[in-house]
Amino acid sequence: MRSFPYIYPMKLIIINGPNLNLLGKREPKIYGKQGFEDYLKELQSIFPEVDLEYFQSNIEGELIDKLQEVGFSYDGIILNAAAYTHTSVGLGDAVKAIETPVVEVHISNTHQREEFRHVSFISPGAKGVILGFGLKSYELAIQSFI
Ligand code: DQA
Repeated sequence: MRSFPYIYPMKLIIINGPNLNLLGKREPKIYGKQGFEDYLKELQSIFPEVDLEYFQSNIEGELIDKLQEVGFSYDGIILNAAAYTHTSVGLGDAVKAIETPVVEVHISNTHQREEFRHVSFISPGAKGVILGFGLKSYELAIQSFI
């Protein structure tokens, strides 16, 4: 939480990992029918006071580069590392290496799913974890920074 008065708008970024560019089309029973670009507009109207950026990549190194780029100047990072959550030591290390707090987000409740999804390399470095609320998980994560 930042103290008032703010001298500049709060700067947050949502970083989405692999296959999340296919939201709306991909396994809609698990991830819903709404595309992320569309949902982002909703988020921007819910939080007009926040400078909210969005980045998505299917490439692990690009996600690490983005964390390093924003991780010493932004107020908060909302990270859904998708499948890399369960595999990437590199992303986990990047989250620990930067100064900006990271909230880990998942659309589905990964603990109700296959066992390999119960492990997260992101959680040990994250400020908190929000999962299982569908796309609303992102809204709750933004709320946590305000
Ligand atoms: C996900 C859960 C991951 O296990 C999966 O690989 C994803 C999406 C989620 O948002 O529920 O791609 O991170």
